Formats: sequence, structure tokens, C-alpha cells
Amino acid sequence: MSRSQPIRAARGMRDILPEQVALWRGVEMAGEAAARSYGYQEIEVPIIEPVALIERVGGDTDVVRKEIYRIQSHGDASGEREGHLALRPEATAGVVRAYFQGGLNQLSQPVRLTTSGPMFRHDRPQAGRYRQFYQFDLEVIGDPSPAYDAEVIEVSRQWLSSLGLAGVSLVLNSIGDGRCRPPYLQRLKEYYRPLKTRLHPDCQRRLEENPLRLLDCKEEQCQPFKAAAPRITDHLCQPCAEAFAEVRSLLDGAAIEYRLDAHLVRGLDYYTRTVFEFEHAALGGAQNALGGGGRYDGLAAALGYPDTPAVGFAGGIDRVVLASPLSEPVKPAQVWVLPAEPGLEAEAARVGRLCRAEIPAVVDFSRRSLSAKMRAAGRAGSRWVAIMAADEAQRQAVQLRDMRSGDQREVPWDQLAVVMAGSLSS
Ligand code: HAM
Repeated sequence: MSRSQPIRAARGMRDILPEQVALWRGVEMAGEAAARSYGYQEIEVPIIEPVALIERVGGDTDVVRKEIYRIQSHGDASGEREGHLALRPEATAGVVRAYFQGGLNQLSQPVRLTTSGPMFRHDRPQAGRYRQFYQFDLEVIGDPSPAYDAEVIEVSRQWLSSLGLAGVSLVLNSIGDGRCRPPYLQRLKEYYRPLKTRLHPDCQRRLEENPLRLLDCKEEQCQPFKAAAPRITDHLCQPCAEAFAEVRSLLDGAAIEYRLDAHLVRGLDYYTRTVFEFEHAALGGAQNALGGGGRYDGLAAALGYPDTPAVGFAGGIDRVVLASPLSEPVKPAQVWVLPAEPGLEAEAARVGRLCRAEIPAVVDFSRRSLSAKMRAAGRAGSRWVAIMAADEAQRQAVQLRDMRSGDQREVPWDQLAVVMAGSLSS
């Protein structure tokens, strides 16, 4: 790359610019509020995890085969192997690891946890699909009751509806467990094998390696075969069927609407029984899932820990922001401190500090003219400007100008914060 070429963000990575940050934070805070009101406790887990943690989660999924960001790390004297780390593609595995490693399995069960932050998947970027994206995550670990499946769905829905999102629908399915899924997958393979040459090449591979994902195929040529494929919900074992019926009856009881879809399978391999997604009508095509989750009773054992039932959800914050009807205006600093001549930097910084006792303040240290500074403050939406000239600075006073009314008067430094706060509250 030539040195004159400006450096841009890596493909699939985005900046969240100041004008979007307020909305972004609002979406995150609504998630935290929903989780808190149901007694979920916050946890933070690392962005970097051992590759093994991610590989055991994913089995043969795309997330593991193609999308892991492996880190070229150095080995070290403690015996850590070179390059055995990766950026997390999701939070669930890390939270389950932390639950055991931090001894949360010794507490009264289940443990309700919530976290949020950046995730990384090396997928083809497009609108609504990024290589660094953000999730709001809920996990309930340590109890098999379907009532927790229904609760996780309820909290997730609470989050989305508190944001005023319209056009969101909940899609529900059960994909069985270690007892009923293997014989179902056998049937599915038997159904698809004679059709193999008519399937999309990706589905030809899935047929042998991960047949459940055949149900997830979006390719036109596979749709007629998918429609007639055996349905997992017709092949659930008794305990899975009963658990699914209970989840549905709890959702009905809570007046939570959903659509059953026997083709709903998830992109990660660890699910058992309940799976669900929230779709948004206005987000296009394959990127229409605002969030999803389900029960994952086998994950703890796959990570080398005792068998422990769990259920969870993750919402895509980027997509929720895209779909959100809210647009929060950026809150500008309410006063700009404008030194009218050079040499007043220390005094201006001090006046800025005094203003901040009550309201946000910006100090304009630039060398542009006073009128240019006034225009900049006006464009930024500032309510006041505090103009500082050398003679007034000697008296420890400024000219405070109300940008709305145009009124201007001298105010001593030590009264500025109180004067402005007083007129904001009146
Ligand atoms: P997931 O379906 O892979 O589930 O991701 C959840 C949500 O994250 C998606 O519905 C989507 O909104 C968002 N998302 C995923 N990939 C991207 C991307 N490349 N760009 C933008 N947004 C994206 C999980 O991650 C599970 N850990 C959920 C879970 C928690 N299951 C149990 N507990």
C-alpha cells in the first residue's frame, strides 16, 4: 500500500459515530434494565478465549469452520501454546466456562447472568452482518425446567418491546435431544439422499456432515425438498415433547405470541430442545434475526465440566439499532467557553472546570476568530457561550451570552455554573 493511501477500517469493522452512540447506548441500557428487572446479574468475560472453547461449541458449524478469528499469539514460558487463542464469536461458551471457573455452580441454582459486548465472525460483510458486531446476552445456568426457557424468551421480548420495535415476531421450535435427534437425523438423511444431486452444493455437503442445517437452507433450488422433509417435532421423544408443550403453554399463559417453525435450527451446534428467534420484517432476507437462543443442556459437558442444563439468548445490538424507530438527538455540551484572544488558555480551562460542576462544557482553544468560535458553538447546539477577554479575566468574570435570546451580561466565574443551572431548571 502506498504511504499516501489513507488507512481505513478493516473490512466488516464499523465505527459507531457520536451521532449514533446515544441510540446505541439506549439499546444496551434497555437490555440491562430488562435483565435487571428479572434478577439477572452482570458478568464480564474475556473477548479472547482458547480456540478449543470455540471449537467444542461449534462442531461442524460455519462459525467454527470458516469464521473464527485466530490470533497469532506467541507461546510463553507457562506452557501456553503458540496461536491457540481466538476472538470470541459469541458469549455463551465463555459465560459457561466462567460459571464453573468462578465457582458460580456452588451457588443456589439456577444462576441468571447477563453480559454484552463485541463478538467477531469472519463472514462476508453486508448490511446487518458485520465481522465485529455486538450482542446483548442472557444465560440461565443450572436448571432444566422449561419455565426458564419461557422466562428467557419473555425477558428478550421485554427488551425488544421496551424499544418500541414494531414488526417483530417470535419463531419457535424444538430440535430434540441426544435421545430423539439421532434417529430423526437418520430419517432426514434417508429422505434427502435420493435427492442429493438436485441439492445446492453446500447442502450436498451438509447432508453428510450436518444434516440438520439442510432445514436452514435459503437456496431456491432446495425449497421444495425442504417443505416435504420429515419434521423434527413429529419425532420428539416423550420428555422433549412434554418440555416443548410446557414452554408453549407458559408462553400462551403469558400472552406471548409465536409462530411454530419446524425448520428453525440455529447456527451453533450446542442446542437441545427449545430454539427460538426474533425476526424483524423490515430487516432484509437472511439478516432478519434480531436475536435468538435456546436450551443447551449438553454444552457444559462438551467443555469438560459436569453435565449442567442451561438456556439463553443473544440479541444483535447492531441489528436492533438498524431496526429501531428511535433516534436520540446527540446531547451537545450546553456551554462553550471562548477565549477571545491568545494567552488565556489556563483561565479558559479553569472556567470550563467551574462550569462542569453543573453542566457539560467545551473550551475552544483554537486560534480562529471569536466570531468563528461563536458560529461553531451555535452549530454544535450550545445554549450559552462564555466569552473571555483579558481585562475581564483579570476581574475573574466572563460575558455570558444566551444563544437563544441573544441576551449577554457579565457574570463572575464562581457564579457561572449556578446561573446557568438556575435558568435550565426554571
Ligand atoms: P446467534 O444466533 O449466533 O446466537 O447470534 C445472536 C444474534 O446476534 C443474531 O440473531 C444476530 O442478531 C446477531 N448476529 C450474529 N452474527 C452477526 C453478525 N455477523 N453481524 C451482526 N449481527 C450478528 C448466539 O450467538 C448464541 N450465543 C445465543 C445464545 C445465548 N444461545 C444461548 N445463549
